[in-house]
Amino acid sequence: MRESFSNPASDFNPAKDGVRAAHVISALSYALDLTEGQPPGHSVQSCMIGMRIARQIGMPVDAQADLYYALLLKDAGCSSNASRLFHIIRSDEIKAKGDLKDKDWTKVGWESLQYAVDHVATGAPFLERVRTLLRVAAKQQVESCELVQIRCERGASIARRMGFSEAVASAIHSLDEHWNGGGYPDGLRGEQIPLFSRIMNLAQTLAVFLVVHGPGAALHAVEKRSGRWYDPDLVKAARSLALSNALWLDLDSRNLVAQVAALEPREKMLIAGEDTLDNICDAFAEVIDAKSPFTFRHSSGVADAAVSIAKQFGMAKSQIVSLRRAALLHDIGKLSVPNTILEKPDKLTNEEWGVVKKHPYYTLEILRRVPGFAELSDVAAAHHERLDGRGYWRHWEAAQLNTPARILAVADVFDALSARRPYRDGLPLETVFGMIHKDAPQALDAECVEALEVSKVETGPALVTLSRSVGQTRTSELVSEPRV
Ligand SMILES: [Fe+2]
Ligand SMILES: [Fe+2]
Repeated sequence: MRESFSNPASDFNPAKDGVRAAHVISALSYALDLTEGQPPGHSVQSCMIGMRIARQIGMPVDAQADLYYALLLKDAGCSSNASRLFHIIRSDEIKAKGDLKDKDWTKVGWESLQYAVDHVATGAPFLERVRTLLRVAAKQQVESCELVQIRCERGASIARRMGFSEAVASAIHSLDEHWNGGGYPDGLRGEQIPLFSRIMNLAQTLAVFLVVHGPGAALHAVEKRSGRWYDPDLVKAARSLALSNALWLDLDSRNLVAQVAALEPREKMLIAGEDTLDNICDAFAEVIDAKSPFTFRHSSGVADAAVSIAKQFGMAKSQIVSLRRAALLHDIGKLSVPNTILEKPDKLTNEEWGVVKKHPYYTLEILRRVPGFAELSDVAAAHHERLDGRGYWRHWEAAQLNTPARILAVADVFDALSARRPYRDGLPLETVFGMIHKDAPQALDAECVEALEVSKVETGPALVTLSRSVGQTRTSELVSEPRV
């Protein structure tokens, strides 16, 4: 199935051998739900439904083991088209994505018209709104295909990066194909569409309708599209499971991560060792950074800066490993922030700042679900806290901020200031450190700042790449407080 994973020995010991990949990936899938505008647990619920359909049709266990991770990662590419979608509709793309999931958008009619009116350029003046609506209508097919293409290619590549097989990657790639050939990106028809993708598309629709409209409406919706969107045999399998209520069992559980873990084929259970955990964190950092072109490589940039400081401090290898993972995932809650805010070139309103300030809270909510990440999740969620208590979101003070949290705060500010943002260009290194010094020691830890400065001097030539034009920089925006 995948080279970087291993199957557990009979004497499997989580403390020694690692953690189950199912626990880690299902916990992190909550971040994908945020970007898709879906309720928390959508990916996990889709996985539970899809696995039940797979068993109902008698899928071999080896294939079930692959399908399991394809279902959990079906939306791995979702952040990569967020910026493009925002530029097309000029409106909140998370809401637009969320509301699209229960619409039959392939039919031209009142439903698709109402959807466009509700989601295109909603805040724009009347004439601009009409112009945008007409442009979206004229280019609907081409742009839909482009959006799916971006998403499915990125999703497949993220699955490969984690070490999953080609079967998993291609299932994610073909998620949006329809039985009648009317889907995207390749217009595959019938059995040309991988079986995994057919199950995944059906399962995700059932999960969406179940939460919004209930089980009866969920079954009705897929039966209405049977033979058009969905494989009729799979719809029949879902129907017989639904009639005995087996399809919906435990989908409202308070511990969905445990419920979905129980559905991974036992004999094929995957274990994530230290290297695999790093691969998973690197892959999710890519998902986070793909949300906006202006935060491209932010997570890996913060991780590099944090590791540099930690090495200057002579921290233990295990502490550096954990700090690096916290840095890679610190902005995972950013997936909840619409691109209307992330890419806004002007100053944010108070309401928009309110949305931004919630992202470390979501970081904590997502990461605390991952087994073994309890301490790491607190460090990651504290990256906007300041020693003087003026940070957010818990307004922690010096006594509550440990060394890893202090390092991460400095690394985050450093990368945010030295990288280009929609509201200003990147800054030269001297300016970046000049600004950071103004916040130390009252808000940022002075020893961390000094350690970073020393490490940057030691890396020498890298300084050149950090220097960028400040010609368009507005000094009023130059606060050492990154937007994300
Ligand atoms: Fe942040
Ligand atoms: Fe950040």
